[in-house]
Amino acid sequence: MTLENRLGLGLVRQPKTVLFGPGQRRQLPRVVGGLGRHALVVTDARMATTPDFCALTEALAAAGVRVTLFDRAEPDLPRASVMAAAQAAGSGIDVVVGIGGGSCLDLAKAVSAVLTHGGDVRAFFGEFRVPGPVLPVVTVPTTGGTGAEVTSLAIVFDDERQMKMAIADAHIEPHTAIIDPELTLTCPPGLTAATAADALSHLVEAFTARPKNPTPEQLATQIYVGKNRITDLFCAEGLRLMNRSLGAVVRTPSDIAARSDVMFAAYCAGMAINTTGTAAAHAIQSPMAAIGHAPHGFGVGALLPYVMRFNLPYATAEFAEIGRILGVAGAGASIGEQARAGILRIEELLAEAGTPPDLHALGIGPEHFAQIAQASVQATRLVLNNPAPMTVATVTQLLERAHAADRRWWTPEEAPALTA
Ligand SMILES: [Fe+2]
Repeated sequence: MTLENRLGLGLVRQPKTVLFGPGQRRQLPRVVGGLGRHALVVTDARMATTPDFCALTEALAAAGVRVTLFDRAEPDLPRASVMAAAQAAGSGIDVVVGIGGGSCLDLAKAVSAVLTHGGDVRAFFGEFRVPGPVLPVVTVPTTGGTGAEVTSLAIVFDDERQMKMAIADAHIEPHTAIIDPELTLTCPPGLTAATAADALSHLVEAFTARPKNPTPEQLATQIYVGKNRITDLFCAEGLRLMNRSLGAVVRTPSDIAARSDVMFAAYCAGMAINTTGTAAAHAIQSPMAAIGHAPHGFGVGALLPYVMRFNLPYATAEFAEIGRILGVAGAGASIGEQARAGILRIEELLAEAGTPPDLHALGIGPEHFAQIAQASVQATRLVLNNPAPMTVATVTQLLERAHAADRRWWTPEEAPALTA
């Protein structure tokens, strides 16, 4: 079975402008000033006290932009944070600026929808539920990263349903992303490692996602439309850069060249998942996070070795290409050997980031498997992306292996039926 892009489809959703490079944050006043005179700037309490952040808001003020600050973004973005930010903003906001990690950037996108269309953010949960254009959003990421600076997705924790919900809508696509690797120099080591593992997982999941051969109508109404020739370009470049610099950025946090590589790789990953979406590792990690409370990146990173093995029989050519991109596929080796070499190299990179090697290390036990398996197969959009068929039975098998750190290759008899 091959993952065939029968349409030869190329599609990318992206901000109007992306500025990348050390020092580019200094363009913020010019960018924001071109969009309006009154900015809502959202960040978290840690970021708000840093000299980098203060310099940015002072530069905005010096450029004549009135700044209303909301510095209470919380991790995993509770719904209450979105509504509190909207209330703090009041009226008259022209542009929303998010500075920080993924939840700060998601907050900027979510609050922009609320400020424009009113009501409760819950009304926008789902796919294409935002009724129209929103206030322009400028994203300035400080981790490398979630890719949230370029995605049309905002993940919000709904206190009522006690689960993470997504606003998935092209209307909340950021207007401009300003990606300055110097801003990651002060990122704490654990966060650097976890966000790099997340970005690496995005690259692998997007590159091995199913091409869906969507109709023009599906392209217009669905947010995740499968892998295609443009997302493959981003994935290949992102994987190359992670291969070169993920280890360096963990070992030597002050290495700006490595920081640039990893931040560009995270941007590439964001560009890819903005069209493909993610797959099994993310579908399984979401319910797992409620139990183990591992950082998102370490959760998906811990799952990835087992997800890759599960998917290998269904995406052998793609994993072989990963092996060639990472420079570990031997000349003359079979496609199967190249694919396994690619998977082993991804695992080395995860280990270099310090990702926990199995689910046991994340506090997940067999007593949680049924709950996790049942919830993960309900993440329909991600399940449809995954090359191997995800059912309660196959996900349970995967969890058993991931818990036991069982990294044997699935035999053809063990691989789920090649029917999906
Ligand atoms: Fe992720």
